[in-house]
Amino acid sequence: MSQFVPVNQPLLNGKEREYLIQCIDTGWISSEGPFVRQFEEQFAARIGRSYGVAVSNGSVALDTAVVALGIGPGDEVIMPTFTIISCAAAVIRAGAIPVVIDCDPVTWNMNVGQIEERITPRTKAIMVVHIFGLPVDMAPLLSLAREYGLKVIEDAAEMHGQTYNGQSCGSFGDISTFSFYSNKHITTGEGGMIVTTDPALAEKCRSLRNLCFKPEQRFVHEELGWNFRMSNLQAALGVAQLERLDEFVRIKRSMGARYTELLAGTPGIQIPLARTEFAENIYWVYGLVLDDIKCFDAKEAMTRLGKLGIGTRPFFWPMHEQPVLRKMGLFSGESHPVAERIARRGFYIPSGMALTDEQIERSAAAVQEILR
Ligand SMILES: Cc1ncc(COP(=O)(O)O)c(C=O)c1O
Repeated sequence: MSQFVPVNQPLLNGKEREYLIQCIDTGWISSEGPFVRQFEEQFAARIGRSYGVAVSNGSVALDTAVVALGIGPGDEVIMPTFTIISCAAAVIRAGAIPVVIDCDPVTWNMNVGQIEERITPRTKAIMVVHIFGLPVDMAPLLSLAREYGLKVIEDAAEMHGQTYNGQSCGSFGDISTFSFYSNKHITTGEGGMIVTTDPALAEKCRSLRNLCFKPEQRFVHEELGWNFRMSNLQAALGVAQLERLDEFVRIKRSMGARYTELLAGTPGIQIPLARTEFAENIYWVYGLVLDDIKCFDAKEAMTRLGKLGIGTRPFFWPMHEQPVLRKMGLFSGESHPVAERIARRGFYIPSGMALTDEQIERSAAAVQEILR
């Protein structure tokens, strides 16, 4: 049998090795090393923001962003229900309340049309999350935020190199965050970044990520922070990966185009939208949603694909259906049918940067086989 096709494999064949050796040769392996600042500056510049604050992953980037904005007990933050738990967790850990809305059945992004009806006097921010490769429609969201005086936290974890009407994703929020987990367009293994144009916010994030040490009296603390620092080793990978971001976006787009060529018109599944009026898909992952006429769900599809040697992952499970959040008394009686449906019928197939043409063809053929 031919080899298993993993759902993700990064490409680390640029200058990663050279820069890592520099870290080892110089002894700079902690967060004090020079690659950290270089990565922050170059990444922020690429996104079109003045400041970058590197952290240990995309989840804690959100924790830091929420606290830096001063969101706290009693505040509400509107976000999509179809997202990763990190979004709701950051809001809850700050003592605030996540308020969720449904997603669009075609782009899988938050349904911006549902935001206004959920705004209350307690609403402090909208957390916008771009899902799977296409950006959220930012113009109406930003105009609502302006009208109601709300902050925008932009979770661009999956969006390196993507744009909305030509402007970089991650440049729209008062504060925006990225992840560099190994399945992202650029990776540091584990890692994250906060970007902003506000110097005070950037400074606040730097302090929060570094235990809120006081510059003048190091071990005396006025506030509680975290150790969320990124190491020089991670940043060395980040600098090397960033050099190739355009190439990586091209690779992912050609992967998406090839899958679409092979799978378009296959009865029984919905494939990702290649483009919207604002952007061309960058295919963080190539998601599929089984039609309702299929008598099996995503779980069964993934089992069948696994038996054919194809790696898969399920879609996100909606926030309003999370046992841990329901136990806290959140989202009682809420239903968001689009997210509920795609969570049960959606999954993604191998989408890593190192995927070969042959692996794409085998994965697509396996999808067609289980749908026959
Ligand atoms: C939309 C979104 N936000 C946040 C995260 C969290 O990032 P990390 O895995 O680096 O903590 C992810 C991870 O995939 C994500 O997809």
